[in-house]
Amino acid sequence: MDFLESRVNFLTDEINHHNYKYYVLDEPTVPDSEYDKLFHELKNIELEHPSYARPDSPTQRVGGQVKDGFKEIKHNTPMLSLNNSFPHSVDTDLKKLTDDENEIFCCEPKLDGLACSLVYVNGILTNAATRGDGEVGEDILANVKTIKNVPLKLYNTVPEILEVRGEIVMPKAKFEAYNEKQRELGKPALKNPRNGAAGSVRQLDPAVTASRPLAFYAYGIVKSGDGASINKSHYEGLRYLHSLRFEISSFVRQVKGPKQVKEYIDAIEKRRDAIPYEIDGVVVKIDSVDRQEELGYVMRAPNWAFSYKYPATEELTTLEAVDYQVGRTGAICPVARLRPVDIGGVTVSNATLHNEGEIRRLGLMIGDQVSVRRAQEVIPQVCSVNLSARPDDAQPIIFPTTCPACNSPLEKPEDEAVWRCTGGLICDAQRIEGLIHFVSRKAMNIGGVGEKLVAALFDKRLIETFADLFTLAPRDLMPLDGMALKSAEKTIKSISDAKVTTLPRFLFSLGIRGVGEGSSRDLANHFKTLDAIMNATHDELIEAPDIGPITASSVCAFFSNEGNAQVVQRLLDAGITWEPITEIADSAIKGKSFVVTGSFSIVPRKDIEAAIRNAGGNVLGSVSAKTQVLIVGEKAGSKLEKAHKLIDVGVPISIFHEKDGIDFLRSNAVKI
Ligand code: IVH
Repeated sequence: MDFLESRVNFLTDEINHHNYKYYVLDEPTVPDSEYDKLFHELKNIELEHPSYARPDSPTQRVGGQVKDGFKEIKHNTPMLSLNNSFPHSVDTDLKKLTDDENEIFCCEPKLDGLACSLVYVNGILTNAATRGDGEVGEDILANVKTIKNVPLKLYNTVPEILEVRGEIVMPKAKFEAYNEKQRELGKPALKNPRNGAAGSVRQLDPAVTASRPLAFYAYGIVKSGDGASINKSHYEGLRYLHSLRFEISSFVRQVKGPKQVKEYIDAIEKRRDAIPYEIDGVVVKIDSVDRQEELGYVMRAPNWAFSYKYPATEELTTLEAVDYQVGRTGAICPVARLRPVDIGGVTVSNATLHNEGEIRRLGLMIGDQVSVRRAQEVIPQVCSVNLSARPDDAQPIIFPTTCPACNSPLEKPEDEAVWRCTGGLICDAQRIEGLIHFVSRKAMNIGGVGEKLVAALFDKRLIETFADLFTLAPRDLMPLDGMALKSAEKTIKSISDAKVTTLPRFLFSLGIRGVGEGSSRDLANHFKTLDAIMNATHDELIEAPDIGPITASSVCAFFSNEGNAQVVQRLLDAGITWEPITEIADSAIKGKSFVVTGSFSIVPRKDIEAAIRNAGGNVLGSVSAKTQVLIVGEKAGSKLEKAHKLIDVGVPISIFHEKDGIDFLRSNAVKI
């Protein structure tokens, strides 16, 4: 082996290792620049010496040759489907699997993506196929190699042929972020995460697949050719796959008896929204491989498993009208008025259409039958149109040219997707939205002042700018609907209480375009005082972490506006204050990664999190190998479990229960 060949081997293994740490463990090992250097070196050697390129080379993760079609691949073992169970039949279906009250089951989320079979020959990913008709699928190897968490090579000793089955999905948050970007660029959005996954995998150009945020979750091993089982229990098989660096859903559980199966079904349904990928139900499997064999198959479905489907997240209904809402930055958002439809237990009668381009791309008309998707934490969306059901009297959608609230002309910069009202401060809709944002929970958090009250106060011209809120007296509120002296006094008190705030909250509440909660925190931590932010130049602003040129321009424009500067001054004069942001000394908290989970009785969780942030710690939403400290309250669930698993494999995570956690923070000068 010459030097270059051994260098290729070294680089291939090294980069594959970094990929695993980054994409599976969420624990980057080297800076991006270092990774890029290694990657380019490998790519260049491979270009000059293609014969040295290994089949598991990470360079294939970015895509290769464009194909003119997909080859067919016959599955060695058919890819089966699952029998469905329903709320009314789950007891009988469980009885059909077993009479034994102590039977062990493996319960798993039913991932809603694209089924895929991966074949490793001598540890090298050699075939990847879709399910197809169960007997014959399509060869998607080049595309699957671009999915970052799919191991290209198995580093442990494995059987000569190992076939792994699983689901390719597009994680929900990545799907939303991808679509948001597409819409901003005026490009077509993906319909839903499942279509996103399936459509991305079935691309003739693997580079397109590589650009899509996909992930593979393994849910089964196919018995090797000689009939030998690698594992005695299904769950053990999944753990084995995990040890080979496959990603397994962290919601998989081994449970005992039908009662626990039903508890699992209920628990996952309750937490469905918190699961990072879309699921359409759960899969219940007899865990013992021997028992599975005894039970066998009927009609291309196993007798040892079933799926239990949850209510759909997408339903068809009719688009009855389109209205236009004006946001606080003047953005005009078209809203679909729908014939009310039940989507997973919630009646939906409005959905966002995002912007004019989206309406055009969907080819939408009033009267059309549309598919509406409702996912937690995002507004319902119209995701497709059934053109074949278009009624004869369907009406075109005419996007307005003037603001529906103030009649000012609308404008849309060439490179943006959103029309905006040019009315600025004369546009009542923008001002009301701005006020609603100011009082909202994540901004000034003025309890008892909601949308309705803001609109009523604005209507009576009792408040026109943020600062006016602080000049209100109980007698101003009493003539309003539903206000008695007591409630008026209470409201005024909560307005007054909100005067003590934090600099990030104050900045966020001003509603500066592009300055969300995160940027507010970044600006406050970087500049420390409001004065410094107000006086910062564009160049100084972009020096703050995560502040780009667009946000910097918008901050400059906001504070150089005379009217805005006056409102800020009046707010300060009204007595709005915050604790100064002090230089954070190096401590056990600064720069450390925390996760806080469960319910707390001494101090609310959000206060603990805020205190950690104020002390310079990072509060993360999920436990990963990056987590250093986990603080748990009552009923801590999967996060605690995951932390234990990570500790088992050597990740040093400190776990504190509520009181100890608070003591630990306080002993490190965290103010709670
Ligand atoms: S096991 C023989 N486990 O559901 C049983 N399937 O109808 C083979 N699916 O398209 C499937 N999550 O891709 C199994 N945890 C899971 C699953 C799962 C999703 C899909 C699978 C197939 C369909 C089966």
